[in-house]
Amino acid sequence: MTDETSNKMWGGRFAAGPDAIMEAINASIGYDKRLAAQDIAGSRAHAAMLAATGIVSDRDAEAIREGLLTVLSEIEAGDFEFSPALEDIHMNVEARLKALIGDAGGRLHTARSRNDQVATDFRLWVRDQLDSADAALVALIEAFLGQAEAGADYVMPGFTHLQVAQPVTWGHHMMAYVEMLGRDLGRVRDARARMNECPLGAAALAGTSFPIDREMTARALGFDRPCANSLDAVSDRDFALEFLNVASICAMHLSRLAEELVIWSSAQFRFVALSDRFSTGSSIMPQKRNPDAAELIRAKLGRVMGAGVGLMTVMKGLPLAYSKDMQEDKEQVFDAADTLMLALAAMEGMVRDMTPDPAALAAAAGTGFSTATDLADWLVRVLDMPFRDAHHVTGSLVALAEKKGCDLPDLGLEDMQSVHPEIRAEVFDVLGVHNSVASRTSYGGTAPEQVRAQIARWKEKLQ
Ligand code: ARG
Repeated sequence: MTDETSNKMWGGRFAAGPDAIMEAINASIGYDKRLAAQDIAGSRAHAAMLAATGIVSDRDAEAIREGLLTVLSEIEAGDFEFSPALEDIHMNVEARLKALIGDAGGRLHTARSRNDQVATDFRLWVRDQLDSADAALVALIEAFLGQAEAGADYVMPGFTHLQVAQPVTWGHHMMAYVEMLGRDLGRVRDARARMNECPLGAAALAGTSFPIDREMTARALGFDRPCANSLDAVSDRDFALEFLNVASICAMHLSRLAEELVIWSSAQFRFVALSDRFSTGSSIMPQKRNPDAAELIRAKLGRVMGAGVGLMTVMKGLPLAYSKDMQEDKEQVFDAADTLMLALAAMEGMVRDMTPDPAALAAAAGTGFSTATDLADWLVRVLDMPFRDAHHVTGSLVALAEKKGCDLPDLGLEDMQSVHPEIRAEVFDVLGVHNSVASRTSYGGTAPEQVRAQIARWKEKLQ
């Protein structure tokens, strides 16, 4: 006789139940209940396959199907009592199924193990997150396209080292993020395509002697094919790691953008106004308008990346096939996914709502001798000077302007000629910021016509 406190699922071999601390460290139900819908979908596919292959009777499969639908509706309605004694979502669902339909419920676990079950559930969950990230990225890219289109020819300073470098267009800067997010989108899609294989039917690790149809369950769950090696199928978590790494790169992009919004919305820059909807006030300083959402997005990369490091560390050095260590794969993925989705949604709102200030952008664009390169290029083009010499002459002109406390276009022609006698009045044409950006028509460059071409390419790509 086994002790009545021993586990209902495997109590056959055990005389006593677990210590309370054992239960606390072992149970994952507190978080893996988030896999309930995926778990039930996997079980339904498995039961249908067991019937189609004659492993269980149609009657039992029908009872299982009905029972699982009841369990799902109980969970969705919030009337399901999750029990830590039943460890995880798989055994909670199965125990309730047996309570509802009796013996037939005990046949569901034929030719299956929790190892292939959890691998399947988790893949389905991560796949849903990749699909949500896909949609959120498209929405964010569209928000940027709107900003780029509206401000395709606003001029602003372009920076290197956060020092004014050359004038660029607002549209060009917006489109830089479109390219970054577009690669994130590509990574999301690549990861999805690679991970879309079904572990179900790998059983504990070695496959099964029952005549299962793995193609059938794979298809029913929207996978492209079954995983080809049963040991790999139950051991692999690189689909989750890839998601975390894709998410980290994306969160890093959002963090850079967030930093720019923090800078741009400051009183010293005033390049953009963030909307009330995405700003907060201060409890003591009545004038304040803080870019909290941007700051939080800037920080959230830490959690997403931390999850990636955490899971990599869990997986590192694990022998094949399943080890319980792998139960520690979920919480960090859940947290990283929630964090990424929230950050993407908040960023989309902020980008859609923000209002650039063309006058402030243009005023800043002309500071810092931003058209010095245009001047050097003019010396090369018109006076046929070697670029290195032109760089030197321009440097002297910048030093002169600095000494006089003015910008390059404010120097007189005599000032210019005092540095180099062949400089002519037409040089002033290239010193204006609008001419400067308009001249940069090389492919991918900052000229409004190039920016409009970039926007058109992206609109077509997103069709
Ligand atoms: N809750 C477990 C996990 O998340 C399910 C798999 C348990 N398998 C086992 N052989 N104990 O990893």
